[in-house]
Amino acid sequence: MRVVKGGSREQWADFVAETLIARLQVRPALRLCLPTGLTPVPIYDRIATAVAAGRVSLGHAEVFLLDEFGGVDPDDPGRCDQMLRRFLVARVDLPEARFHRFTLAGDIAAECDAYERSIGAGCDLTLLGLGGNGHIGMNEPGAAADSLTRRVDLAPETTAASARYFSHDRLPTWGVTMGIGTIMRSEEVWLLAAGTNKAAIAARTVREPVSDSLPASWLRAHPTTLLIVDDEAGARL
Ligand code: PGA
Repeated sequence: MRVVKGGSREQWADFVAETLIARLQVRPALRLCLPTGLTPVPIYDRIATAVAAGRVSLGHAEVFLLDEFGGVDPDDPGRCDQMLRRFLVARVDLPEARFHRFTLAGDIAAECDAYERSIGAGCDLTLLGLGGNGHIGMNEPGAAADSLTRRVDLAPETTAASARYFSHDRLPTWGVTMGIGTIMRSEEVWLLAAGTNKAAIAARTVREPVSDSLPASWLRAHPTTLLIVDDEAGARL
């Protein structure tokens, strides 16, 4: 895992967005795994601006949503697919058929298996936020290195943190997520962290022994993972 210090929050977002734009320019049919959460929002803003300006296109790209909350209405604005649509998909030229997400409408295990198959050999590039407890996607502490797309229970702190997405108090206690094994098949992984509240977990991710108690640490076994931090999140690195 190589640590990249991206500078101020603005410089960090510029760096990640411009590097992603460069990847898309070289490989227009890029197969991306994208997260929600607050971390990538300024990056998605910059991508949307670049698409509107004609600098880059997602017209040939493919996007796989990283994870989804369970037990939430399909049109709830706090659902991950609704958030990614609002922050990025609705603002760019990605064809609807190449925006892959979870319906959670029927047999969840079958849908997860089909999702895993559609990812196939792996995404070209996976962007991840870093959870305060070291989770990536909804792979909470205890997630195995070879885990695949599946239903998971959320850690109590993840349920509590989800309150920032919902305008009601029926917070999700479970979800579906790409597994650690699914993420590890990605050719490239960018683990993104910004803000002072990520400084401690970013340092632990780099320094603590690789183990299932800190899921992001599994990425240290991945050959091309970058941990991209802003000044605040990188303060202890
Ligand atoms: P955040 O969430 O981007 O809102 O900090 C990251 C996560 O918990 O996965």
